[in-house]
Amino acid sequence: MKRLVITFTITAVIFAFSQPLVAQEKAAAPKHEYVGAAKCAMCHKKDNTHPTWMETKHAKAWESLKPEDQKNEKCIACHSTGTDAKGTLLTGVQCEACHGPGSNYMKMNIMKDQKLAIENGLIIPTEKTCQKCHNENVPAEFKAKEPYDFAKMMTTGVHARPAKEKPAETK
Ligand code: HEC
Ligand code: HEC
Ligand code: HEC
Ligand code: HEC
Repeated sequence: MKRLVITFTITAVIFAFSQPLVAQEKAAAPKHEYVGAAKCAMCHKKDNTHPTWMETKHAKAWESLKPEDQKNEKCIACHSTGTDAKGTLLTGVQCEACHGPGSNYMKMNIMKDQKLAIENGLIIPTEKTCQKCHNENVPAEFKAKEPYDFAKMMTTGVHARPAKEKPAETK
């Protein structure tokens, strides 16, 4: 019984001391910030993702808004990406709206390692990512008439996907 009490006390003490450490680690983790599509383009022009994204409606989503709507928080939410570290609004649905804020994963050595990139904020988008914006909150007058068919939208709404297509070509 005595041994049990001692063990319990020791465990409790270790637990108590480990708490501030955990909190410190969390605070030290750098925040993922948006950097903007121009930064991604430095490396993603060659693989055609940036040029073909430019052709999608996402790249022009800001231009679809009338000047007065560009000041309306409600419209801004889905027709922009977020604000960068300097507080500048990144307009339109840019890379990071789907792939997550890139300040910590955009370094070459991290980007080359998918696991490391994900740990640093990279998102590999799924239908759920699209549903952040393609949902019931789209104003009725602008909402697509057909029910959302995400499998189809993945082919029309997303840039070219070079690496994914390569294995099929070599068959
Ligand atoms: C310094 C160069 C560089 C920059 C800047 C960069 N990337 Fe990359 N990225 C790469 C390399 C290299 C790869 C790995 C090879 C590939 O898939 O093209 C990669 C891979 C990716 C992948 C595929 C991940 C996977 O494993 O499926 C995504 C998505 C991606 N980058 C998005 C972005 C976004 C969004 C930005 C801007 C925030 C960005 N990258 C900035 C070099 C870069
Ligand atoms: C940040 C919000 C946001 C996210 C996330 C998003 N979209 Fe969009 N999407 C929009 C907006 C806004 C438009 C309308 C752009 C315009 O025409 O002004 C749009 C338009 C589209 C269109 C064209 C619709 C049409 O009527 O021609 C397709 C297709 C599409 N998105 C597919 C996707 C897919 C697939 C994903 C997920 C991989 C996705 N979107 C993620 C906001 C988003
Ligand atoms: C919940 C996210 C969301 C909100 C909020 C939102 N939109 Fe959109 N908007 C979209 C999506 C997604 C599309 C593409 C159609 C679809 O997928 O249903 C779109 C399409 C549009 C289009 C059509 C563009 C084209 O190419 O024909 C216009 C214009 C538009 N929205 C204006 C607005 C205005 C104005 C507001 C604010 C009153 C607003 N949107 C709020 C997500 C949103
Ligand atoms: C509307 C959402 C959306 C936007 C905006 C977007 N992507 Fe993607 N991206 C995707 C999806 C979906 C995939 C495929 C994910 C998978 O592997 O299943 C993808 C895959 C990729 C890949 C991996 C290609 C491969 O096949 O391995 C790269 C690299 C990439 N994106 C870069 C970018 C860059 C750079 C931008 C901006 C210029 C961008 N993406 C904008 C949705 C988006």
